[in-house]
Amino acid sequence: MADPYFQQLFADRIGGADYGKGTEIYKFEKIKRAKRQALADHPERALLDFGIGENDSMAPANVRQVMADEINKPENRGYADNGVIEFKQAVARFMHREFGVELDAATEVNHAIGSKPAYAMLPAAFINPGDVTLMTVPGYPVAGTHTRYYGGIVHKLPLLAENNFFPDLDGISPDILAKAKLLVINYPNSPTGKTATTEFYEKVVEFAKQHQIVVVQDAAHSMLSFDHPPTSFLSVPGAKEVGVEVHSMSKGFDMIGWRLGWVCGHPLIVQAFADVKDNSDSGQFIAIQKAAAAALDDASIPQQTREKYRRRMTKLVEVLKRCGFECSMPGGTYFLYTPAPKGLADGTTFENGEAASQYLIREQSICTVPWDDAGPYLRFSVTYVAADEAAEDALMAETEARLKSLAPVF
Ligand SMILES: Cc1ncc(COP(=O)(O)O)c(C=O)c1O
Repeated sequence: MADPYFQQLFADRIGGADYGKGTEIYKFEKIKRAKRQALADHPERALLDFGIGENDSMAPANVRQVMADEINKPENRGYADNGVIEFKQAVARFMHREFGVELDAATEVNHAIGSKPAYAMLPAAFINPGDVTLMTVPGYPVAGTHTRYYGGIVHKLPLLAENNFFPDLDGISPDILAKAKLLVINYPNSPTGKTATTEFYEKVVEFAKQHQIVVVQDAAHSMLSFDHPPTSFLSVPGAKEVGVEVHSMSKGFDMIGWRLGWVCGHPLIVQAFADVKDNSDSGQFIAIQKAAAAALDDASIPQQTREKYRRRMTKLVEVLKRCGFECSMPGGTYFLYTPAPKGLADGTTFENGEAASQYLIREQSICTVPWDDAGPYLRFSVTYVAADEAAEDALMAETEARLKSLAPVF
């Protein structure tokens, strides 16, 4: 078929005139295809899905009830623009209750339609062509993609086990630092499961001040902290002078599909974000914002989510250890990030995490996500669907049996 006349018109940032012609398949698409294939080849074998990073539960009933009530109120029908004060105030109460952080609801908080679009928009506020965004890898790539869209450069900071999964800020060269405008960090970290220490956050504040860099701390998993109570970057002295923290209703409140998050911190950065946002969307449905406000005011919700995933994670760590994996309980998140097997006792070898992951899904219908950005790793998510603890235990027993039958070698 002939190319449409607009084939030549696509912007370079998405591939230019070659857009849509590539044969490269992205990681998550590869996983989806392998899952479909495993189901087709082995309909008798249940898929053990540790791949997907999406909460398996619906939002709590009391939150859904507030939504049901608010949806019928005429005052909630219109454009929300940069958000209703009820949600901002609930955020301020939440940040104070959970982390002792004081925020001015009117000027230091702004909602986003999920935290993902906030990472798409924040680079618009800072990045000119040639500017650098410092980003930890492996990690959530959206701020980097949009940095490149604006002509900026992404400088990757690998998260390595030997550095305790913290970026080596002292190792960044002076010429990169001179061009760096944004530092994007993420704790509790996806996928490594590392939680931040106060010392690390203090170092980040000092680093940002010294090199005049704006910090964006991704707190999407903040309420899923196992090794210590959840913390906020903004609770560290000076943090509000250097940046913002971006939160999400998705993970801790089982509200993934509702699409709500917020940016909070320095009022001028929040304002810049709100200006970009105001030119991009017209705000999340007010009924959703009010239901989320009710969720934020209910401290039991994130506690229950955390305890459920802690329980599942504890079981998974035990199972994987018995199968030879060298893993331990992560500090937080619902992800277990563990070195991929190098091969199997039968002599099969895996050149990287992706090969190991593909083998597990193909041969044993065990779905994981490979990460090869900083060494060969597999990520197991404990968001698999299991109705109760007995179902969790059955799924764990099946996982152990299948993995042991493969006899992985490390
Ligand atoms: C580290 C991290 N940041 C941000 C997000 C985006 O979350 P949401 O857009 O649902 O708020 C995710 C979701 O997977 C994530 O894992």
